[in-house]
Amino acid sequence: MALALYRKYRPKDLASLVGHETNVEVLRNAARLGRLGQSYLFYGPRGTGKTTTARLLAKLLNCEKRAKDPEFRKLGEPCNECDACRDIDSGSALDVIEIDAASNRGIDEIRNLKENVRQAPVRHANKVYIIDEAHMLTGPAFNALLKTLEEPPAHAVFVLATTEFEKLPPTITSRTQRFLFKKLPKTAILEKLERITKAEKMDVSPDALELIASASEGSLRDAESLLDQIAGMAKKIDLDMAERVIGRASLSRVEKMSSLALSGASKEAVAYIAELKNEGLNLVQFTRDLIHYIEKALTLSLNPDLEKNLSEEFTVEELGRMKKTAKLASPAATVPLLRSLIRAYGEMRYSPFASIPLELALLEPKP
Ligand SMILES: Nc1ncnc2c1ncn2[C@@H]1O[C@H](COP(=O)(O)OP(=O)(O)OP(=O)(O)O)[C@@H](O)[C@H]1O
Ligand SMILES: [Mg+2]
Ligand SMILES: [Zn+2]
Repeated sequence: MALALYRKYRPKDLASLVGHETNVEVLRNAARLGRLGQSYLFYGPRGTGKTTTARLLAKLLNCEKRAKDPEFRKLGEPCNECDACRDIDSGSALDVIEIDAASNRGIDEIRNLKENVRQAPVRHANKVYIIDEAHMLTGPAFNALLKTLEEPPAHAVFVLATTEFEKLPPTITSRTQRFLFKKLPKTAILEKLERITKAEKMDVSPDALELIASASEGSLRDAESLLDQIAGMAKKIDLDMAERVIGRASLSRVEKMSSLALSGASKEAVAYIAELKNEGLNLVQFTRDLIHYIEKALTLSLNPDLEKNLSEEFTVEELGRMKKTAKLASPAATVPLLRSLIRAYGEMRYSPFASIPLELALLEPKP
């Protein structure tokens, strides 16, 4: 089997991480100056680069070329060629210990950690402990970890990663350098997907790629997995195919429905629902997308300056079309429509007749 795309394209240096510009800058400067810390916490939603960055940090700390060559060290990147870098990339580095706190809630692992942490590294300069899903540790495991974080031996570095910051005790978080890994902007996801399709010589239409980027909701791993799944289906991938696999309607359909609904063309709008239904698209998801879209169009019509806030979520072309929709979105027409749609969304989720609440919402006479 071919290596999954998300593993094949895991960034090997800080420069290939997309998004997270500030985090990258802070880490790179610390690496340049040889001032990396001993305990880090990477937190934020799934598939945004936490584990990847933890491994990059392990390479920065252990790269042999960085240790030998002060000029190279100034770049603040790992060399990816020395034994340390290669061992870490292949997951065979003895001094980089990855602990999955989710399995067995870390009890044995943290006990082992306490015993092993004092011993000098086996092969490389530093021992790096990457504690994934750190919020899953038990109380005793946290306590044990706390003692170690308070007085770590000079050769030990800890990187905690979690999707649930709030579940970590403040005694732990306050002893770490904290880095938030936000949901990635759609534009950043697109940028990487484009790079992958080029390198893999995949024939995926731009609108299909955009749909994948929106459907992944800020997670690059999800985007790469979706691309993997869809690309396996045919030589040439177009929007129709992507919609069918993902079960999610493209933004252009959401745009079209928004214009119909906002201009009071309820007959056409209902006919359009039938079309979406025939194609097997998920109407609950569609309604959710529709609500978000109309809400944004309304905001934009009230305050055109907010356009820049939307630039991470929409491409330039998409924003251009949204501005047209915004012209239709007067508060008088939009507020009652949004109310009806939100109610419909609540009803649809539990109804065997998902399309009916949506149809009614569009047909309802607006005051
Ligand atoms: N910021 C990013 N830049 C480039 N690629 C990324 C980024 N974030 C995620 N990826 C891609 O997604 C894959 C998974 O990323 P990673 O394992 O670092 O996510 P994570 O934040 O640790 O997720 P989880 O919370 O689910 O553990 C990477 O191998 C890479 O291909
Ligand atoms: Mg991870
Ligand atoms: Zn190296």
